[in-house]
Amino acid sequence: MITEYLRLWNARKWMKQNEPFLPTWHAHLGYSLDLFHHFSKGASVEEVAARNNWNQDLLQRWVDVGIVLGHLKMKRNGKIKPKRQLVKYVSKESPNSVGILIKEMMELHIPTMLSYRDLIQGKEVTFFEENYSDTVARTSALLETIAFPKVASSVKKEKVTSVFDIGTGYGGYLRRLKETNQELELCGIEVDETVAAKAWEELTDSGIEIIAGDIDQYETAKTFQMVMMNNLLYYFSQEERQKLFIKANRLLEPKGTLLIISPLVHSKHGQAFASAFNSFMSAHEKMYPVPSARELTEYGRKAKFRLKKMTPIIREGGWYLLVFKKK
Ligand SMILES: C[S@@+](CC[C@H](N)C(=O)[O-])C[C@H]1O[C@@H](n2cnc3c(N)ncnc32)[C@H](O)[C@@H]1O
Repeated sequence: MITEYLRLWNARKWMKQNEPFLPTWHAHLGYSLDLFHHFSKGASVEEVAARNNWNQDLLQRWVDVGIVLGHLKMKRNGKIKPKRQLVKYVSKESPNSVGILIKEMMELHIPTMLSYRDLIQGKEVTFFEENYSDTVARTSALLETIAFPKVASSVKKEKVTSVFDIGTGYGGYLRRLKETNQELELCGIEVDETVAAKAWEELTDSGIEIIAGDIDQYETAKTFQMVMMNNLLYYFSQEERQKLFIKANRLLEPKGTLLIISPLVHSKHGQAFASAFNSFMSAHEKMYPVPSARELTEYGRKAKFRLKKMTPIIREGGWYLLVFKKK
């Protein structure tokens, strides 16, 4: 009898542990089909389903879950209206939307975790038909809000007048730097052609140079006072990272600054996140586990850099900013 109860208790425990997944599922579907927007002015399930030619029963189930979770409310006239927060943060066109992060978690990270069973057994797994470079560049940019003031303060403190940004994505750090000081000479390199083209389109008028290309192939005689590599290292193997540090050295003037933003393993903060992140990275052929501070210090030492500063940016994510000085 006791054994049976314990079994039931364990089953309940796992069911309960899984419950927090429901809001993310609900928000993800809401974002993917822009449902919070569709219901934003108050609408019935029938109206929204008919307008979009969607399955009304399934939409009703999503609405039922939303009401239980408190994401949605039913008004007296029977129409459904989302909470304002959901319209603001999980609608596609909202300037405050964080839906892209939910998309990345649900469409990149969770499927990768689910494919581990096959991967561990050496079975072939096909990842992602869709090109997710836009998603990844946009989710990284979310960090800018918190990391940029630290970047700007480094630029100011070191009296930097020129910056080269490796793996610039949409060039958000460069754009923000230009806004603080028009005189700065700013240049970014981005390997993904679509991302680079969009960055070029948005930034070139402001005098920021965007190069579409691979840093490994890129050579220039020009030197800069600061090189940045933000959220980039997991695209490079350990051996390639060492080369990247050497390249950063070549791109820098004497006593120049190398600024790195990255999640780190074996650091004081955010180890649950870092280990989950690494499970994702290790599953992909062209991605690599995030480094430790010790590893980076060692690349730095071999490439003639000295680690000057290391500050946490997002503690629960194990995200740090590291400042190296060229010797
Ligand atoms: C995660 S995003 C980070 C973007 C931006 N630095 C940030 O922190 O928001 C990393 C970017 O580096 C680019 N990248 C990866 N390998 C690269 C390489 N070898 N040369 C240039 N860019 C690269 C990727 O295409 C991607 O857009």
